[in-house]
Amino acid sequence: MSDRNAVFLQEMGLGPLWQRRDNPGAVHPAPSAGALEAATVDDGLPVAPGFDAPPAQEVARMDWAQLQASVAGCVKCGLCHGRTRTVFGVGDAKARWLFIGEGPGRNEDLQGEPFIGQAGRLLDNMLAAVGLRRDENAFIANIVKCRAVDESGRDRPPTAEEAAACMPYLERQIALIQPTILVALGKTAALSLLGLDPDTPVSRLRGKVHEFAGRPLVVTYHPAYLLRSPAEKKKAWEDLCLATATYAAAD
Ligand code: URA
Repeated sequence: MSDRNAVFLQEMGLGPLWQRRDNPGAVHPAPSAGALEAATVDDGLPVAPGFDAPPAQEVARMDWAQLQASVAGCVKCGLCHGRTRTVFGVGDAKARWLFIGEGPGRNEDLQGEPFIGQAGRLLDNMLAAVGLRRDENAFIANIVKCRAVDESGRDRPPTAEEAAACMPYLERQIALIQPTILVALGKTAALSLLGLDPDTPVSRLRGKVHEFAGRPLVVTYHPAYLLRSPAEKKKAWEDLCLATATYAAAD
């Protein structure tokens, strides 16, 4: 464990540090050289009027640029009406690690980038704790690419229909990025990817390796939840250790 990583763990509110006795260095794999290619950031284009949503089979054949343009002009569900910008995702388009959140909030909608603000800072610290950076060797995406709000204008989780409408985009992102491991951040991401009942608690999904699109999937808490429940950060660290061990075994 480097001093730098120890600082990040401290920042996450985690400590003392735990290491596996049988393999103390195992939780910090060096990122592969291929994972350090140039970052690709969504340009968050405004809605193109009259753009028709392509069917899922068409999305499944798109290259990265086509996919970005398609997301930017998407009108597949009602979320397109309230959005300022779509949030395609951010990071290395060849990343070995893909983190998946719920959907953009107010700031993300304005800036076109996922996980901005306090929850984003915590996510960046979680990434750093396992040797990752959003602009270098990880990709961050969401279940939906547009902000979902309730009648009072407050952020809400996307409905199952909204999540399903957006899923072909995420599936294509996964097929193009070809990450070694997926990490679901919170309930919406986990349940949407695993197709589970809305009552399933995240606690029941933690601690095991699931599968999505033929890739290992580890479930952890959403950074916004961790900000509200800092005592759970230790569990999030355990989840990151599981993800790191799974990555090391798979790559
Ligand atoms: N929460 C998410 O799940 N995703 C974001 O992009 C921002 C907040």
